[in-house]
Amino acid sequence: MLSDQSARVVRATLPAVGASLGTITEVFYRHMFEERPELLRGLFNRANQASGAQRDALAGAVAAFATALMEHPGERPDAVLGRIANKHASLGITADQYTLVARHLLGAVAEVLGDVVTPAVAAAWDEVYWLMANALIAMEARLYAEARVEDGAVWHTMEITERHEETPDAVSFDLGHPDGSPGGAFVPGQYVSVQAQLPDGAYQIRQYSLSTAPGRETWRITVKRERSADGRVPEGEVSSWLHANARPGDTLQVSLPFGDLLLPEGDSPLLLASAGIGVTPMLAMLEHLATVSPERPVAVVHADRSPVHHAHRLELSERVAQLPNASLHLWYEVTDHPDAAGDHVNEGWADITPISPAPGTIAFLCGPLPFMKTVRTDLLAHGLSPRDIHYEVFGPDLWLSK
Ligand SMILES: Cc1cc2nc3c(=O)[nH]c(=O)nc-3n(C[C@H](O)[C@H](O)[C@H](O)COP(=O)(O)OP(=O)(O)OC[C@H]3O[C@@H](n4cnc5c(N)ncnc54)[C@H](O)[C@@H]3O)c2cc1C
Ligand code: HEM
Repeated sequence: MLSDQSARVVRATLPAVGASLGTITEVFYRHMFEERPELLRGLFNRANQASGAQRDALAGAVAAFATALMEHPGERPDAVLGRIANKHASLGITADQYTLVARHLLGAVAEVLGDVVTPAVAAAWDEVYWLMANALIAMEARLYAEARVEDGAVWHTMEITERHEETPDAVSFDLGHPDGSPGGAFVPGQYVSVQAQLPDGAYQIRQYSLSTAPGRETWRITVKRERSADGRVPEGEVSSWLHANARPGDTLQVSLPFGDLLLPEGDSPLLLASAGIGVTPMLAMLEHLATVSPERPVAVVHADRSPVHHAHRLELSERVAQLPNASLHLWYEVTDHPDAAGDHVNEGWADITPISPAPGTIAFLCGPLPFMKTVRTDLLAHGLSPRDIHYEVFGPDLWLSK
């Protein structure tokens, strides 16, 4: 895929580019937002810019793609890109925007590395960029085609039909089309992007997993309020805004559903491991299983601060009870609710050892990165294949960059 000449140049300069990717991505975003400030206010997540999380995710993806290209020069490493393409599609990114990113990203490489970037080096990295960009453009075009929309036309107006306070920190919203038409198809595990206009006029977009099964009249999202940790970082902008302002009858701009954490068909055993608000995609999967394959063996592991903080606690138990071959394993740091006692309730950090997943189990993880890393390590130790362990991160994917 990469020409031989470029492969030689990329191999020789990968250590220098890799070591400076943090600075390169920082310079890239700074220059792009100087030229196009509306992108920071209306498309990119400005908290991820402030914290550096998006820079790290981009640097991790570029490094992973370039390294994979060097290891298998004849193949295009699309595996790195599926999650990014789905995120881009949920934001309505279009092919023409890749030229803007190319100019600023390759400009940042030249600015940061200086004389190292000869015309041959610039040409080789331009080739890497466009291999990556064209792969993403093709995947995104396919996602738009599957959703039967023009490229980027994923946004529509939805009305909040119900609002429920689930815990002191989590609120759920049912979303329907204003004309009463059904919510639309999706695969359990997928999410939508939601746009909020904040008090300073900026439009900020965040993703929320659909927390009920497909086939209902409405979709449901459950939003955890991101509180300020000891006043050191600001509270979450969009989640706080939704908690404070979004009421039944209000409308929101919502994308079509996307995401590559997909419940697989078939009868292989499943293990769903979530922590905190990471329960949302699991709820959709469990509700869907009750309709399509109730006999499927499913082990559900959920970890939370306490029963009081566990969003959809009773619903999770009910969903598991509807599946005759499902088991529930709850882990709370503190068991502070009298109703929450029971055989399946444990105190402390989640531990999957007692579950002993059956061979061939497919696992889905969703929660903070340290939780997922621990569970993944345990699952690998129990003999699960890395291929069968899937995960969703509720933010930029930093698994590759940390
Ligand atoms: C695929 C996917 C599915 C998701 N599903 C759900 C879901 O079902 N439910 C749910 O509640 N969430 C979900 N999320 C997370 C959600 O999209 C938002 O990230 C979340 O609601 C927080 O957004 P916010 O605007 O409130 O916080 P933001 O304003 O984006 O802030 C995020 C964090 O960054 C911190 N921060 C802000 N500025 C700085 C700074 N300068 N330095 C350091 N830190 C800073 C904030 O304190 C906060 O903790 C999902 C995310 C993804 C990607
Ligand atoms: C080859 C080119 C590109 C690469 C490698 C790339 C890579 C990435 C990565 C790794 C993420 C984080 C995904 C995640 O883990 O959630 C991301 C998100 C994003 N990308 Fe791209 N991208 C590219 C092009 C573009 C273009 C052309 C645009 C449009 C201007 C764009 C806009 C965004 C936005 C808005 C987000 C979400 C940011 C956030 O939530 O903080 N990207 N991209």
